[in-house]
Amino acid sequence: MADIQNCDSCPSSPLELFERVTAQGEKVRSLKAGKASTDEIDAAVKLLLSLKVTYKTATGQDYKAGSPPVNFSPVSNNGPTTTQDEDFVDPWTVQTSNAKGIDYDKLIVRFGSSKIDKELINRIERVTGKTPHHFLRRGIFFSHRDMNQILDAYENKKPFYLYTGRGPSSEAMHVGHLIPFIFTKWLQEVFNVPLVIQLTDDEKYLWKDLTIEKAYEYAIENAKDIIACGFDINKTFIFSDLDYLGMSSGFYKNVVKVQKHVTFNQVKGIFGFTDSDCIGKISFPAIQAAPSFSSSFPQIFKDKKDIQCLIPCAIDQDPYFRMTRDVAPRIGYLKPALLHSIFFPALQGAQTKMSASDPNSSIFLTDTPKQIKTKINKHAFSGGKDTIEEHRKYGGNCEVDVSYMYLTFFLEDDDELEKMKQAYTSGALLTGELKKVLIETLQPLVAAHQQRRKQITDEMVKQFMTPRKLAFDF
Ligand code: TRP
Repeated sequence: MADIQNCDSCPSSPLELFERVTAQGEKVRSLKAGKASTDEIDAAVKLLLSLKVTYKTATGQDYKAGSPPVNFSPVSNNGPTTTQDEDFVDPWTVQTSNAKGIDYDKLIVRFGSSKIDKELINRIERVTGKTPHHFLRRGIFFSHRDMNQILDAYENKKPFYLYTGRGPSSEAMHVGHLIPFIFTKWLQEVFNVPLVIQLTDDEKYLWKDLTIEKAYEYAIENAKDIIACGFDINKTFIFSDLDYLGMSSGFYKNVVKVQKHVTFNQVKGIFGFTDSDCIGKISFPAIQAAPSFSSSFPQIFKDKKDIQCLIPCAIDQDPYFRMTRDVAPRIGYLKPALLHSIFFPALQGAQTKMSASDPNSSIFLTDTPKQIKTKINKHAFSGGKDTIEEHRKYGGNCEVDVSYMYLTFFLEDDDELEKMKQAYTSGALLTGELKKVLIETLQPLVAAHQQRRKQITDEMVKQFMTPRKLAFDF
């Protein structure tokens, strides 16, 4: 890391530093909006992260967008901190300097959520009578808010519902996008509850360089991939914001309720919006909040306002739901509960998540077996040693090896996975051999997805997306 604090052009006062972090944050956002190259964005994000560290050192406070420093007390006056361990996570950026990926335990502390520990997993098993999904067993869903409350409700035969979503930014979904849906499908099955899936085509129109028509088209295309995960048509409602907001008698009322109870200052603090962001972005969080309240779906829940909601999502979506949970009691609603997943790493390494805009960082759901093979062999970051001799002698490092990480997501057999880990760590298994296991796991998985997707007719999509009563009586 460059020594930012002692350079000549460096700001010295906390306020100047604050302004510098803010400006750099804006630069990152504009680079992203302008579709700059990944390298350029990465470099700008790195600078942003180190500026934040410098800011914290100088003021003793975490940088908070929109809140200039007050009562600052420097952490130390021995120059810049040498540890560069600040991860950056918000709904648009995930970045860390650590090859093992984000420090999720720290994130739990920073976000104020709770760890999904063995005790909670055991309780899920007891309550449902089902073996917990391997995403739970392996810490892929690792954090929660109020999951015990959901289990209490379930034990007392009180209904709840599931809510998840997807921002349709392109036609191309990659395997990482499936994680929340695979898990949500499992939850729907074991708990037998209604599910609503929000497609935020409005969000993508606001944030990306897309026409409304394109964003809506992507929503429909993505809906097919989501349906292909196997959701029950009688228990699932999928909606495009662009469609549903204008035709629901409940949804928009909840959007407005949320809007009335969150200030510009608050969303600036939570999402880092600035004065130059369009008002569509500034008010969008209310639209992602609304599906957390059962009265947004009168066709499903009739006039019931107090059906509790459980949201499985990747942890980067938590800022939306922190806001939602904060407003809920003030507008007479229950706070939604949450289950958070870790990120699906890019092929190049766990420093960032997979991105749909970089074709080589991802395995797409449309990839052929050959493309899958080539991408993994060529791009999957390896924790193996440089030469066979060294590898045999010292073994590989599973903690940074992307092929191994992917296997933890997709290789369901626990014993098989443990065998791979042992063999790779000891050096008995070579990188090429580990990659082969991954290739042979992903090829059939993606092919089966493509097969299921082909069976989905426009009529089925329409059915899933029609506001209607589901197979539950409220
Ligand atoms: N904002 C999310 C995205 O860009 C989409 C989304 C909307 C979502 N509602 C959600 C994701 C609820 C998880 C849970 O992908």
